[in-house]
Amino acid sequence: MRFEAIMRLAVLTAGLACSPLAASADAKPGVERGRYLVKVSGCNDCHTRDYAPKGGQVPEKAWLTGDPLGWRGPWGTTYPTNLRLYFAELSEDEWVRRAKTLTARPPMPWFNVREMTNEDLRSLYRYVRSLGPAGKPAPAYAPPNREPIGPVVVFPSPPK
Ligand code: HEC
Repeated sequence: MRFEAIMRLAVLTAGLACSPLAASADAKPGVERGRYLVKVSGCNDCHTRDYAPKGGQVPEKAWLTGDPLGWRGPWGTTYPTNLRLYFAELSEDEWVRRAKTLTARPPMPWFNVREMTNEDLRSLYRYVRSLGPAGKPAPAYAPPNREPIGPVVVFPSPPK
């Protein structure tokens, strides 16, 4: 009887020792967290057509479908990727792995994405997947010696 009581106590203590883990449950990856991150970390500003000029007043169903507005500079002309199609072709684990070593041409802030925690990367992924694939692929990258088709934002050359 005493032995059993001690065992119960042991089980209870083990449970308590685990409780800090349980307490961090709100950091669990989730769609709502992903939506929040997309909004506050500025992904829509470039990856959603007209998002910045319209002060964010773009229907959510059009979010992250890429933008045909090019960004031209010494690197050539880049177009914000359609992330709804991009994520549809990746598994969640593939995205987390890729995000940790992500690089892209300017003005994509890949260094900010690398700083996200695994939980946040997973949340971001789950949110974008919850929206589903939509839209067309963004225009292809044009190297510096090629004239881009369509409107561009022109960056000045950096000072020498
Ligand atoms: C200032 C504009 C800008 C912002 C802000 C921005 N992006 Fe981008 N992003 C781009 C451009 C432009 C490209 C295409 C770069 C290229 O062609 O190399 C790109 C490409 C990407 C790619 C594809 C990289 C690859 O594998 O080729 C991913 C993924 C991505 N962005 C995710 C994000 C996420 C997530 C956010 C928000 C945290 C974000 N971007 C914010 C402009 C931006």
